Amino acid sequence: MSSDTPDGRTVDESTDDPLIQTEIDAEPSPSRDAERTETIVRTKDLSVYYGDDRALDDVTFEIPENRVTAMIGPSGCGKSTFLRSINRMNDRIDAARVEGDLYFHGKNVYDDDVDPVALRRKIGQVFQAPNPFPKSIYDNVAYGLRVQGTDEDVDLDDAVERALRGAALWDEVSDQLDESGLDLSGGQQQRLCIARAIATDPEVILMDEPTSALDPVAASKIEDLIDELVDEYTVIIVTHNMQQAARISDKTAVFLTGGELVEFDDTATIFEDPTDPRVEDYITGKFG
Ligand SMILES: Nc1ncnc2c1ncn2[C@@H]1O[C@H](COP(=O)(O)OP(=O)(O)OP(=O)(O)O)[C@@H](O)[C@H]1O
Ligand SMILES: [Mg+2]
Repeated sequence: MSSDTPDGRTVDESTDDPLIQTEIDAEPSPSRDAERTETIVRTKDLSVYYGDDRALDDVTFEIPENRVTAMIGPSGCGKSTFLRSINRMNDRIDAARVEGDLYFHGKNVYDDDVDPVALRRKIGQVFQAPNPFPKSIYDNVAYGLRVQGTDEDVDLDDAVERALRGAALWDEVSDQLDESGLDLSGGQQQRLCIARAIATDPEVILMDEPTSALDPVAASKIEDLIDELVDEYTVIIVTHNMQQAARISDKTAVFLTGGELVEFDDTATIFEDPTDPRVEDYITGKFG
């Protein structure tokens, strides 16, 4: 079986191989590795309903691997709903119903044979308010590895250190690993949550307004960290902060009320030369 992408190319969906990937024609951001990128998440006519109310309306687009993709748009336009649909967190909301397709590495995550728990191991997430567990810094990071059942070959101490280094937190906490994660500052707590998310070695990290509860200095550290994370991971971030989206993302998706994906393009194009006048109006603050 094959189907057409929005830009008219045909992709093969006939395989069950989760490693099959499709190429996109994204112009790589100059700050990133200039290699062509692969699509990691692709949606086709994705709609999400809560009861009879539609929160996402026929969304079709492709998210590139090892890039930062930002989701922007006014409150209630379906950004969090979209993020939750990627790793099937909407499954946990009784009223939520998904229609259409969402592919991760070419595999439809809504197929019957997909285990949502295994999927969430590949697609981790970080929330708006830092939410460390009431446990030690060490145990926060080790949590996912322990739940997963640690491989005998994996040294837990090493894995915790690697994740804390990856989240740019190690130097600040290496001598207090036994202290509570809740005693850290807000910005440190958010980096602890990022360490917890990357400890289990996901491919994608979903971030829903990860800096909106932080002061500007702590937020800027998270932005720097995101820029480093995309060497290894794909970051999909919801933000209300236009400057942040413009600063840190390679691609930007603009959603508007009613859950419509109005425009998706290179971030520079969205902010400097959008096609849809509603995008310009939104970005310049005329509505939303
Ligand atoms: N659990 C739920 N049950 C019912 N309706 C919901 C639920 N979650 C979201 N909605 C509705 O779906 C629509 C989209 O909500 P969503 O939270 O995805 O928007 P958002 O773009 O993330 O908004 P915000 O910027 O305020 O976070 C809204 O109309 C919202 O009221
Ligand atoms: Mg939201």
